[in-house]
Amino acid sequence: NVKSRHDYQPPAFIISTVKLCFELDNTATKVTSVMQLQRRQAGAPLKLDGQHLQLLSVAVNGKQLSEHEYRLDDESLTLDTLPDSFELTVVTQLSPQTNTALEGLYLAGQTFCTQCEAEGFRRISYFLDRPDVLAEYFVTIIAPAEQYPFLLSNGNKLSEHIDSAGNRVVQWHDPFAKPCYLFALVAGDFDRLTERFVTQSGRDVSLELYVDKGAAAKGEFALQALKRAMRWDEQRFNLEYDLDIYMVVAVDFFNMGAMENKGLNIFNSKYVLADAGTATDKDYFNIESIIGHEYFHNWTGNRVTCRDWFQLSLKEGLTVFRDQEFSADMGSPTLCRIDAVKLIRTAQFAEDAGPMAHPIRPEQVLEMNNFYTVTVYDKGAEVIRMLQTLLGRNGFAAGLALYLQRHDGQAVTCDDFLQAMQDATAKDLSRFALWYSQSGTPELAVSQHYDAPSAQLTLNLSQHTPATTDQPIKQALMLPVQIELLFADGTKQQHLLVMQEASQQFLLPEIHTEPVVVWLEHFSAPVKLKADIDDRHLLFIAGNASDGVARWDAMQQFWSRKVAQAIAGNAVEDVLPEALVSMMASWLQQPEPDLALTAELLSLPDFDTLAEQYQQVPVDGILAALAGFKQLLAMRLREPLLQCYQRLPLSAYHYDQAAAAQRRLRSLCLHYLALSAVDATELLQQHYQSADNMTDTMAALAASQQAQPATFNLLIDDFAQRWQHDALVMDKCFALVASDPAEQVFDGIETMLRHPLFSWHNPNRVRALYSAFSMRNPQQFHRLDGKGYAALEQVVGKLDGINAQVAARLITPLLSWRRFDPVRQQLMQAALQRLANIPGLSNDVYEKVNRSLT
Ligand code: ARG
Ligand code: ZN
Repeated sequence: NVKSRHDYQPPAFIISTVKLCFELDNTATKVTSVMQLQRRQAGAPLKLDGQHLQLLSVAVNGKQLSEHEYRLDDESLTLDTLPDSFELTVVTQLSPQTNTALEGLYLAGQTFCTQCEAEGFRRISYFLDRPDVLAEYFVTIIAPAEQYPFLLSNGNKLSEHIDSAGNRVVQWHDPFAKPCYLFALVAGDFDRLTERFVTQSGRDVSLELYVDKGAAAKGEFALQALKRAMRWDEQRFNLEYDLDIYMVVAVDFFNMGAMENKGLNIFNSKYVLADAGTATDKDYFNIESIIGHEYFHNWTGNRVTCRDWFQLSLKEGLTVFRDQEFSADMGSPTLCRIDAVKLIRTAQFAEDAGPMAHPIRPEQVLEMNNFYTVTVYDKGAEVIRMLQTLLGRNGFAAGLALYLQRHDGQAVTCDDFLQAMQDATAKDLSRFALWYSQSGTPELAVSQHYDAPSAQLTLNLSQHTPATTDQPIKQALMLPVQIELLFADGTKQQHLLVMQEASQQFLLPEIHTEPVVVWLEHFSAPVKLKADIDDRHLLFIAGNASDGVARWDAMQQFWSRKVAQAIAGNAVEDVLPEALVSMMASWLQQPEPDLALTAELLSLPDFDTLAEQYQQVPVDGILAALAGFKQLLAMRLREPLLQCYQRLPLSAYHYDQAAAAQRRLRSLCLHYLALSAVDATELLQQHYQSADNMTDTMAALAASQQAQPATFNLLIDDFAQRWQHDALVMDKCFALVASDPAEQVFDGIETMLRHPLFSWHNPNRVRALYSAFSMRNPQQFHRLDGKGYAALEQVVGKLDGINAQVAARLITPLLSWRRFDPVRQQLMQAALQRLANIPGLSNDVYEKVNRSLT
């Protein structure tokens, strides 16, 4: 049942308008769909998608069909003889309450809500569930008035009344034709926050945010973030909102982060609700970024959508890029970029190196939900960013404007996007297009040669992309390589090298002294850099490059090298240069103006970043080296750490860039101090007790967990007690308990599974425990007795029958089993094999297990 990108066929029929009527009921919701269809292909049957539906009746032009006039199976409803233009009425019944997959129409607590992307609409009604069928929607929702004060759908509200039976009846109309994946319905009782936004052309838009009753105060930040996003898109890309109303609803049961349904975004409540006491700086950041992301989809996704799901990166890569640019403008561009680079170097490089490797535009898909990946999204965003680097900001903006103007109201392809970029800028992008079809992580090897007599600097670059599981043969890509030359006299020069061949030489004339070259400034291409820069020069770059990202990156490269030396058998004391210790001390004594950058400069790479640098991951070696270096730094830098910690002023919590940066640096100091000080217990206790916000509270918990287990046990008990009634905060507690590097983690998880707020049906709860365990606890997950792998295996197996989409996402850490030593390989493989043998395994989990075992 695997689909291939090249098998695309235009639809045999189109649906121009749909009238949907929902009579809501927990277990027997009736959906009446009246569609206007037109034939596009002579003689073809009409095959509508539908799953988990009970068909009540079918009529063509008002005439009921009998059972032998259509064909029905588990996945479709087919009609053979049809006129060229007709009205089709389909009545179905479904049970939202038993829909644990959270796809289609389901109950999130008491709230009815929908999730249709990618192929969830077929669980609501029989339809052409594909993104290139664009229809105008009229929606009627009927539900008991008392219980459901709010009945919402896309577009503008046409009418609302209460009928004689006490039902509320609301009608909606969305004037913009859309694919069914953008359909949404919400019914429930909420607190509603409202705002107004006047667009640049002077149109008045009412903004409405719906949250759980009692949570109104926690919605304010998201609502203001929405206004910032709307203004930003006008100013940066001249894009204005197009309806009179924009609604955002937060629900407690949601598979992903959020969904851009036209005029009615539905959000995981984790990415809406925030106040100082319950949300961390990171949560605030994520909320603003995801609010922005879904809003930006209105143009890049909704007004112009995807022709087929293979084109997903057309909207997602582009929209992630847009949300990254938005976040950068709202806060620290350097920090945003560092976080994006970390994600590429960990999860994305790992995906390329594993059995699920795929290009940003996949070629083969069994279950589309498996391709909402860090490759399609985040590498996709890197590809867009490279385009902007190559075309310049203005050229890129012109290309985007042409793309949106040319294709407004259409469902298009990645090629259409590149064509518009090319037409608007008169640049030849034919080589660049390879980024869409080639998977894998390119390796870029660089070296320099300076010739004093001719004052010429020669730069040698060569690229090589290793084979991936999906694609053995690779070609040379077009790579924008930004560099900076640092001269001894303090002067600097910037250049953009555009690489097009496997191997290339660039000659820079009139270079009068040999500079230090900063390669791949701002991570200008998503590659692994192989540069032979000695320690002294790396530290020089870390101290002097203009780009904060490059400075941080130099430190990361430096540490990778030190970790490798430690793994090779050197004592950590012997490989740590004095120059480094004094450089770190001076950053602590005199932090950079950007305190968050300072914290990043002082941080070691994490386990996953280091792991990606090895063919076979030396689990124990990396863990031992990291622990050894941190311990050593903590001791050597004890005084400056303490002083820096104490010097940073404490003020009442407020979320803004400067304050968040200060907290970041302070937590970093605390982290090291926890490893060094005899009186760390007191310090940690005090940090925890005096915190007026969740960021500092979590910092104390995390720092104690790594270094002071007794203190951690005390604090986490207090924390669990204090927040026992708040599910989103309990998720943080679950995640902390599951990241405990000590063996007690297994008992901790067992205890949390019995917590009244834990539920296997809620993806946030399950992820809080098990993503943390499998992705933030390498010590226990990778145990040599296999207990960690078995724990994850059992969860995936159990969850597969409840919510296959979430199960398939959790399995990721097991898929890269080939990257480990023979003992671990064998244990992981056996766990995967047991999963493969489960009868009735979902497509979602099957596709991944199968790819990884063959
Ligand atoms: N389009 C949504 C977003 O990126 C994500 C929806 C993913 N849903 C899914 N079932 N895979 O904002
Ligand atoms: Zn998106």
